[in-house]
Amino acid sequence: MKFPCRLDKFVSHLAQIPRSKAKAEIKQKQITVNGEVATAFDHPINQTDVVLLCDEPLEYLGKRYFMLNKPVGYVCANADELHPTVFDLLDEPNMKDFHVAGRLDIDTTGLVLITNDGEWSHKITSPKHNKFKTYLVETQEPLTEQALDQLRHGVQLHNEKELTRPAIAEALASYSLRLSISEGKYHQVKRMLAAVNNKVIELHREKIANIELDSQLASGEYRQLTQSESKL
Ligand code: URA
Repeated sequence: MKFPCRLDKFVSHLAQIPRSKAKAEIKQKQITVNGEVATAFDHPINQTDVVLLCDEPLEYLGKRYFMLNKPVGYVCANADELHPTVFDLLDEPNMKDFHVAGRLDIDTTGLVLITNDGEWSHKITSPKHNKFKTYLVETQEPLTEQALDQLRHGVQLHNEKELTRPAIAEALASYSLRLSISEGKYHQVKRMLAAVNNKVIELHREKIANIELDSQLASGEYRQLTQSESKL
């Protein structure tokens, strides 16, 4: 939300009611701003103003950042008709403007970042900013040195003009590797493994830029990012 903000918009946003209902509350003199009854729909509101609706404070909670350990079976979307979404796992007030910064597939687990800060998520997801995402990958076929080298160098994905950017690929065992990539193309890791004649069996995201999945978070749990984590 940008400040100064119109009163009706502020009330609608924070009380999660339609703008028409917010206007009705203003008309009925149910809203005070810094102790004075407000009557104008476009009364300008700043971040420090104290706004009460029926004597209850409407608080602007500002920019917020969360990390979630996503389980299998949840989709990274604000709403879905078939499946539970990652937002079903969050119990936080005023989540209307929140979005996922870098989605995972329904069958991928691990680090998901959720925020209401669009500029911040752009920095995470835009390939221009070159932020690495690190995945643990279990494969169907054994990994060969040649395949690892191809992943490091860049592979040709189906329906893409250019090779993938150089990646960091570290073999952990015959059927598992740690892969860090700085792009986020659709199903990128699965397509990269397919491009070297292999198949992803399990995929788990461990890290995005400087933010590592907290090992204290069980599957389905979340916490707010610390200030240093959200600095990027
Ligand atoms: N790459 C994929 O293929 N799937 C994900 O969920 C994330 C990266």
